[in-house]
Amino acid sequence: MTILIERHAKVLTLTLDRPDKKNALSSAMYLQLTKALYDAEHDANVHVIVLRGQQDCFCAGNDLADFVAAGALNAEHPTVMFLHQLSQCSKPVVAAVAGLAIGIGTTALLHCDLVYAAPDCRFQMPFTALGLCPEAASSLLLPKLIGYQKAAQYLLLGEAFNAEEAAHFGLVNQIVSNEQLFAFAAEKAMKLAALPSEAVMQSKKLLRQPQQQLVQQVLHEELAVFEHLLQTSDCQQALQRFFQRSKS
Ligand code: COA
Repeated sequence: MTILIERHAKVLTLTLDRPDKKNALSSAMYLQLTKALYDAEHDANVHVIVLRGQQDCFCAGNDLADFVAAGALNAEHPTVMFLHQLSQCSKPVVAAVAGLAIGIGTTALLHCDLVYAAPDCRFQMPFTALGLCPEAASSLLLPKLIGYQKAAQYLLLGEAFNAEEAAHFGLVNQIVSNEQLFAFAAEKAMKLAALPSEAVMQSKKLLRQPQQQLVQQVLHEELAVFEHLLQTSDCQQALQRFFQRSKS
């Protein structure tokens, strides 16, 4: 099991549970997450979703092994299915992030509604160093959130940033100690779940609606470029360097 799925009252908690690989997301994990989000979408008794990892690690991004043999990034691809499901989720998603949040570990947060982070968080989107480009509509959503130049710093240079910076520019709602993080996020989720569900969902829709169509369009455009870049020698060499580093 690589995704733990737990239900307490009206809150569904999805825990990335692959600590030996720093919660790198495999195809199987994307499929599990997609199904859980789909089921939640169609279950009137689920009001809120919590997305979390371990107390010391959220997610090291896409499993790089899957990039080596990546096929077409079409609508049936597990990562693409997950991105569609998360970006169109009608129920509020609360993220609790500790330690590493790399690649999609950071960009997925742009589709969450409330994000709580531990002080040790390290956010990074090292797409260009891997010979790749932004995904999850981050090329649209990040500059919108933090301004173009800061987005270029993180998406072109691929520099890391910490929880304090993330809270400062609004990616993170609040910094909470590693020990308190999950209880705090659960408390916020329960608070949301206790509110009239229809009102919360309609409000989320109103917040997201103005850019929803554009988000889906950019998501597709990014995937076309990403798919092309995966085949380049720059990318394949970067992947090889990573796996050689892992073995040594
Ligand atoms: N894909 C596949 N495996 C990954 C992974 C990823 N994204 N991130 C970590 N792992 C694996 C490592 O290969 C290693 O496996 P092994 O023990 O079988 O060799 C294990 O997880 C632990 O990682 P390790 O590199 O030893 O831990 P670390 O604390 O020294 O470094 C990271 C952690 C996340 C900084 C480093 O693993 C890393 O840079 N990962 C790649 C991140 C990335 O580029 N993600 C994709 C962005 S698009």
